[in-house]
Amino acid sequence: MKNSKKKQFLLIAALALVVVSFVVYRVSIRPPAAELAPEVRVAEILKKGGCISCHSANPELPFYADMPIAGKMVQEDVKEGYRAFDITPLMEALKSGETPNPVDVAKVEKVINDKRMPEAKYYLMHWGSQTTDAKSDIITDWATAYRTAYYADGLEGERSGEPIRPIIPATDINKEKALLGFALYHDTRLSVDNTVSCASCHGLDTGGVDNHQYSHGVEDRLGGVNAPTVYNAVYNFVQFWDGRAKTLAEQAAGPPLNPVEMASTSFDEIIAKLSADEEYVAKFAALYPEGITEATITNAIEEFERTLTTPNSRFDQWLLGDDSALTAQELKGYELFKEYNCATCHVGPNLGGQSYELMGLRRHYFDTRGMELTEEDNGRFKQTNEERDRHRFKVPGLRNIELTWPYYHDGTRLTMDDAVRDMALYQCDVELTAEENEAIVAFLRTLTGEYNGMLLTNSNKYGVIVTHDDHE
Ligand code: HEC
Ligand code: HEC
Ligand code: HEC
Repeated sequence: MKNSKKKQFLLIAALALVVVSFVVYRVSIRPPAAELAPEVRVAEILKKGGCISCHSANPELPFYADMPIAGKMVQEDVKEGYRAFDITPLMEALKSGETPNPVDVAKVEKVINDKRMPEAKYYLMHWGSQTTDAKSDIITDWATAYRTAYYADGLEGERSGEPIRPIIPATDINKEKALLGFALYHDTRLSVDNTVSCASCHGLDTGGVDNHQYSHGVEDRLGGVNAPTVYNAVYNFVQFWDGRAKTLAEQAAGPPLNPVEMASTSFDEIIAKLSADEEYVAKFAALYPEGITEATITNAIEEFERTLTTPNSRFDQWLLGDDSALTAQELKGYELFKEYNCATCHVGPNLGGQSYELMGLRRHYFDTRGMELTEEDNGRFKQTNEERDRHRFKVPGLRNIELTWPYYHDGTRLTMDDAVRDMALYQCDVELTAEENEAIVAFLRTLTGEYNGMLLTNSNKYGVIVTHDDHE
């Protein structure tokens, strides 16, 4: 009798515990209250999800981080997590009301919608941190509102939340300065022996690149990194693979004095040459009171480069509402591009150029490349000397990608097929089927746009490296 009463009591107690746990659980996974501002709700979801614990330089570790086994697991997660993604800038932007980086927004939206983060082992230990559909919806609404305001490109309706945006050409170009910049861009007098111009390595009729693995400068001197395209470079948040130039004008001051590119000894030397040309003297005088200087030369080149945008690609037509602009395969390719995370790093109008990212995020790239490490492989590390920046590169844009082979900073991938297959592998840990690979490449081909109203083309043969002999 006594025994069965005890059993009964235990049973009721156990039941009560289950009920209470369930209620606590339901309450704790509840999304933040609807009346809060969107940024506040998002910040709350990320805070509860423990994102900061694994994705910042100075995480607040739990008490068991000092214990032998659990501690080692925690520390590994934090190391891996911080290597993959730093969430601090986003958290600070949410707090201060500043505009977050579009890549951070895309990454958070993606992992939350996939319910990939926080990792299961985290939310099993932290009640309420789990991602739910309600939380996903909050993040998606916030990301869509963010993009509509950030890009102000007029995308409406179901396409307003797309991570890739149409190119809207600038309307405030100073035509005279741009024309002067065009002349300078094609002028070999910027080089020491009057043989090389910007266009030698960034031909406007060759996709804005040279189709070499590494560029060849004066006297055929060889550089150590692949030349990115000048088309749409205006969209990059910084210039060069390692981001060492903040603006196009600052960038343009580099090649003239670079010993393996144009190798002039100083801007004074260049200014002296240009000043001997009456036409230049008159043109500069008309546009700049200070005449021919390093600053005015690079300013004019920058103004010209601002015209180098390529709108009206088939993909842009689709984004702007023309459903018939893409084939079923191309659309499928775009869906895969989003599904497999490509559109977290390759975002915005240029599908990239907004952040530095690790080459080899999910699988080691350099270990298996079959080529000695070079100085250039260090990427952003060259500028910051921060270990975390080693092998981190400014993400290249993917506009007109079918014209800009070979690919990657090391120019080791000859075709889009190769570049896409290996991106999926090393950045996303996905082995694409042949069909998927083809669909993504088909999508990428729809990104070729127009310059001056004409479809951009490349007079070189696709997938063939241009050698120096071809130039002669
Ligand atoms: C227990 C630690 C832990 C927590 C908590 C955690 N993450 Fe992660 N996260 C990781 C690790 C480890 C990786 C790298 C491995 C991987 O990609 O799966 C990662 C990867 C990521 C990436 C990069 C993925 C990619 O492939 O680009 C993003 C973005 C991310 N996490 C966001 C979040 C967000 C947002 C939260 C909070 C909701 C969160 N994480 C919570 C450990 C964590
Ligand atoms: C000898 C070949 C060569 C010449 C000449 C040359 N470039 Fe480049 N350009 C390159 C290479 C290689 C890079 C990448 C270098 C790096 O990232 O470290 C580059 C990078 C750039 C970038 C940055 C693009 C991006 O996505 O980061 C721009 C813009 C650019 N060049 C414009 C110019 C202009 C303007 C001139 C003339 C003043 C010029 N280049 C002359 C080879 C050349
Ligand atoms: C974590 C960020 C990240 C993700 C995810 C990512 N990429 Fe990239 N992508 C990069 C970086 C960084 C480079 C430059 C790598 C280098 O040069 O070594 C790059 C380069 C490329 C290039 C070559 C561009 C050029 O001009 O050289 C292509 C094509 C490309 N990515 C396509 C994709 C596709 C397709 C996916 C999805 C399967 C993808 N990327 C996923 C960061 C990313």
